[in-house]
Amino acid sequence: MAIRTIVRYPDPRLQQVAAPVERVDDSVRVLVGDMAQTMYEAPGIGLAATQIDVHLRIIVIDLSEKRDALQVFINPEILSAGGDLTVHEEGCLSVPGVFENVERPGAITVRALNERGEAFTIEAEGLLAVCLQHEIDHLNGRVFVHHLSRLKQSRIRAKLAKQERDAA
Ligand code: NI
Repeated sequence: MAIRTIVRYPDPRLQQVAAPVERVDDSVRVLVGDMAQTMYEAPGIGLAATQIDVHLRIIVIDLSEKRDALQVFINPEILSAGGDLTVHEEGCLSVPGVFENVERPGAITVRALNERGEAFTIEAEGLLAVCLQHEIDHLNGRVFVHHLSRLKQSRIRAKLAKQERDAA
């Protein structure tokens, strides 16, 4: 396993739409392992393959306190979205240091494959529903800041550009 470099907003590679995984084989499992290691090391609670510049529809999530309950979603599809719209403060490993409220459906049903290539369906609410929608957005070339006003987006880009300058 290896830690991969996380692409940062507003890098245009984050806008690429990811392709479906055709076969869940060992190369996909190696990639999932790298994604998990990269997420844990960051540390974060979710990562989409897009964020490490691999444009395949793969997501890893771990919402557990002990960081020992990895969830893998390959080719995730939102079958239905409902419940009350809920507002949650989101952050992203590709947008370091930025946390903003985003409104999304509170409950979703998602179908995906696991790392053995087996199909499963889950009903998610709360943080898992937020996280899944955030990560599926990445696979579709969308970052959570795209849900915000243009003014906020330009302020965030200015803040990140300053961070990069200060780090240089
Ligand atoms: Ni993100």
